[in-house]
Amino acid sequence: MRTDRKRRILVTSALPYANGPIHLGHVLEAIQTDVYVRFQKAAGNECYFFCADDTHGTPIMLAARKEGIEPEALIDRVRQEHHRDLTGFLVEYDNYYTTNSEENRILSEEIYLSLKEKGHIAEREIEQAYCEHDKMFLPDRFIKGTCPNCGSPDQYGDSCEVCGATYSPKDLKNSHCALCGTPPVSKRSKHIFFKLGDFGKFLSSWVDDETHVAEGVRKKLQEWFGAGLQDWDISRDGPYFGFEIPGETGKYFYVWLDAPIGYMASSLNFFKGDRIKFDSFWKDESAEIAHFIGKDILYFHTLFWPATLNGGGYRSPSLVHVHGFITVNGEKMSKSRGTFIRAEDYLKHLDPEHLRFYLSGKLGSGMDDLDLSFEDYTAKVNSDLVGNFVNLVSRVSTSILDKLNRTLGELPSEGRVVLQELRASEEKIREWYESRNYARVMRECSRLGDVANKYVNDLAPWSQIKEDPEKARGTVTVALNAARILAIYLFPVVPKISSKVYALLGLKGLPSFSDLSSDLERSKVAPYEMITKRVEEKAIQIMIEENKTPTAQTQTAAPTPNSKAEGVATLGEISIEDLGKVELRVGRIDEAGPVEGADKLVQVKLNLGSLGNKNVFAGIKAAYDPESLVGLKVVAVTNLKPRKMKFGLSEAMLLAAGEGESLTLFVPHRDAQPGDRLK
Ligand code: MSP
Ligand code: ZN
Repeated sequence: MRTDRKRRILVTSALPYANGPIHLGHVLEAIQTDVYVRFQKAAGNECYFFCADDTHGTPIMLAARKEGIEPEALIDRVRQEHHRDLTGFLVEYDNYYTTNSEENRILSEEIYLSLKEKGHIAEREIEQAYCEHDKMFLPDRFIKGTCPNCGSPDQYGDSCEVCGATYSPKDLKNSHCALCGTPPVSKRSKHIFFKLGDFGKFLSSWVDDETHVAEGVRKKLQEWFGAGLQDWDISRDGPYFGFEIPGETGKYFYVWLDAPIGYMASSLNFFKGDRIKFDSFWKDESAEIAHFIGKDILYFHTLFWPATLNGGGYRSPSLVHVHGFITVNGEKMSKSRGTFIRAEDYLKHLDPEHLRFYLSGKLGSGMDDLDLSFEDYTAKVNSDLVGNFVNLVSRVSTSILDKLNRTLGELPSEGRVVLQELRASEEKIREWYESRNYARVMRECSRLGDVANKYVNDLAPWSQIKEDPEKARGTVTVALNAARILAIYLFPVVPKISSKVYALLGLKGLPSFSDLSSDLERSKVAPYEMITKRVEEKAIQIMIEENKTPTAQTQTAAPTPNSKAEGVATLGEISIEDLGKVELRVGRIDEAGPVEGADKLVQVKLNLGSLGNKNVFAGIKAAYDPESLVGLKVVAVTNLKPRKMKFGLSEAMLLAAGEGESLTLFVPHRDAQPGDRLK
């Protein structure tokens, strides 16, 4: 698919929500996109990579409220953190913007008004759960109650995490506001809808084009078409952090309307408001628009988004690439196992290019989930990256080259044959990058690395140098020309490593496919510097240990601002005498109830047998319905100095692991009796 015309390509990754840290799932997507972009740039195309933080919506509004700051302050801080983490993986954005921008407001309004003018907007009243205490409509995720299917308490308004049932919040039993616990009332209000059905024909022909989405995605979409396209509710009532809908009062664009428009806003900001340049991508079919997303947000990008663009007078995407989810050591990322790995934590312990190398080795064009197995990661990086590519360079670049005045010679003819074999893969490699089949690229590069390393092994320049230094110089010259070709091929994946190889060879600029036509002869080689290290298994273990949520946590007081910060590994050692000072006892919860004015707390009457009862305020409400606790035997620290809290005296502390919704109380063996001392 190689054309000599310079292509113009605008590429995006999905915009991370501004209410959580960047984790390895986001990183997978950023790397996949970045490899594509770096390939396009290295191939000489005009390519831009735009992203932003997705800043609007109820969860972000509430997160800011909880911290006692304005949402603008929250999203500014988070955007900096996100950008720092993502670029830490050598992801090179042309712009990393925000959806809460003037550009985005203007574009969202324009597009909405254009849809309205063309008759694609409808209005009608709908009934929704409303919290009279918090004075707001409650999104499904902010309603909790008992699952109508399996009876598990404390489930979300839309689905049960225990049995997997999905339902309407109306069917939830004992439903209550997740913020304050009040049972919601049903309230009517006017909503604004985008008539997606108007775009049925347009969408099905967009989807049918094989270049737009992969086969698996097309199948999914055709199922949805079969089910019929429903109107899409694009408004939310205040209070809401977002853009007000023009011509309405107290109504805001639903975050998913303005989020993808954020792709456009990021580009408009980069083009400094130049609408002609902007239109040359967003209105001109001779350019390309490629979105990289995860499978969970496919619906938004392949139905709503192309329809929104079409109705708004813009072109539709030329590619929506959908990837699967990352699992760690074979399972969903889990906080308690230490495998919910935040980008920041990975970077503290491990090398970003190792992850780029490893993930690329597994990424294909489909949306299968992808496992990061740390054992496999260690093996692959150590053998295929360090043991193969890096070894090809290092084995000839130290003492041998020192004895050869660090100067290359001419390529011997049998060496040219080897290089020819390496060059012959160029077309395939380009095609595989283009079709996002990075795994194929990586396999091919490993094979070529083997070919070059075998050549070096067979000629053994470390022996040649003793008899015929010029022969050795020829072998070294072949090895380093091979390394240069591989550096070009692998540059999109491991840009820093490839650049180091280039620097060693005294080459200026970034590795680029156009460099493939020339050879390197009679030039000077710089002193060897470490290119990349082997993976140390210990670093992985430390990272995972540090990531595990604390096993014993103080739960009596409201969480301190730092309570999210790292676990207990930093507490240092204590003596057995110190431990003896802590009195741990079995207690039975005889009564449990909510605490007025404290969303997180449960008040517990703890029966300690012969020691009597103690009153405890425990920060466990997010994970436990008070009613469900009655009768439960737990473990408590019973000799802690009583703490005076706003609501009364807390006389003991319950032991628990985890935090928030995934917190679990420690439960003793069923034979344990209230008052028993733990030893
Ligand atoms: N804000 C929306 C996207 C709006 S785009 C106009 C969103 N944000 S997100 O932070 O939840 O996810 C951002 C991207 O990360 C999505 O493409 C999502 O699929 C991807 N991933 C989030 N968790 C993931 C994994 N565990 N594995 C791989 N990718 C996953 O959705
Ligand atoms: Zn409420």
